[in-house]
Amino acid sequence: MSLSRTGDLVAAAREAGEGVGAFNVITVEHAEGIVAGAELAGAPAILQISQNAVRHHLGRVEPLAAACALIAEAARVPIALHLDHVDDLGLLHRAADAGFSSVMYDASHLEYADNLTATRSAADWAHEHGLWLEAELGEVGGKDGVHSPTARTDPGEAVAYVADTGVDALAVAVGSSHAMTTKSASLDIGLVAKLRAAVPVPLVLHGSSGVLEEDLRRAVAAGLTKINVGTQLNVAFTAAVRRSLTDETLTDPRKYLRPAREAVTETIAQIIRTLTTR
Ligand code: G3H
Ligand code: ZN
Repeated sequence: MSLSRTGDLVAAAREAGEGVGAFNVITVEHAEGIVAGAELAGAPAILQISQNAVRHHLGRVEPLAAACALIAEAARVPIALHLDHVDDLGLLHRAADAGFSSVMYDASHLEYADNLTATRSAADWAHEHGLWLEAELGEVGGKDGVHSPTARTDPGEAVAYVADTGVDALAVAVGSSHAMTTKSASLDIGLVAKLRAAVPVPLVLHGSSGVLEEDLRRAVAAGLTKINVGTQLNVAFTAAVRRSLTDETLTDPRKYLRPAREAVTETIAQIIRTLTTR
């Protein structure tokens, strides 16, 4: 199967009243595990590489993106590539050539007017280069390691922001927070429904690792479409590595990366089943 485009997968999920999972890739094993999980669930998925992951890979996005593209092309389900949480314009400008069909440009830490100006120019650039652009309004907490699930996106402001920036999708603050290792977030489902009714583009949930399965289901039914998950995969990945490393004679990385990849696969299949009706 050839590489799919994020915009197409998100539009199809929205049309079907389902969610499409966008999963953070750090290692090649993450990408392999995510695609295997999507195949197991029989549904599409989005592989996303964050700006932070690019930094980990010594500032070069192309090697991991190329690996993801090749893994996606061999998949038995539609897979797209997304570049996540970008505020570095140099990185944004490398996205299309690196094989991504979409980027999340993150100016959410700026005041409304500055966020709008920066995002409008990022969206203009992205559209000129064939990219689908997601942006965020109402900063979802936890990016700095500090959980603050209190931020909320105002529906009226969201409508104006989407109209004035021309973005293709909007990440909203509705009670989740990044990097949660427990499922203790409380989503404002009423606000999700209000945003869905008011905002013409698909809505994105960040920090989904902290959200209970039943709440994710309700949130998708209320109108969230692209569901971003990272930490939950790493919790499973690292627990599997830790279990393997109790054998202190073990030296071959394949011996601990294989169970870690399998743990990602199981986690992904479970999440995708939650987001879809499959
Ligand atoms: O953009 C990535 C997601 O928001 C991941 O958040 O690591 O809290 O699941 P999470
Ligand atoms: Zn995020």
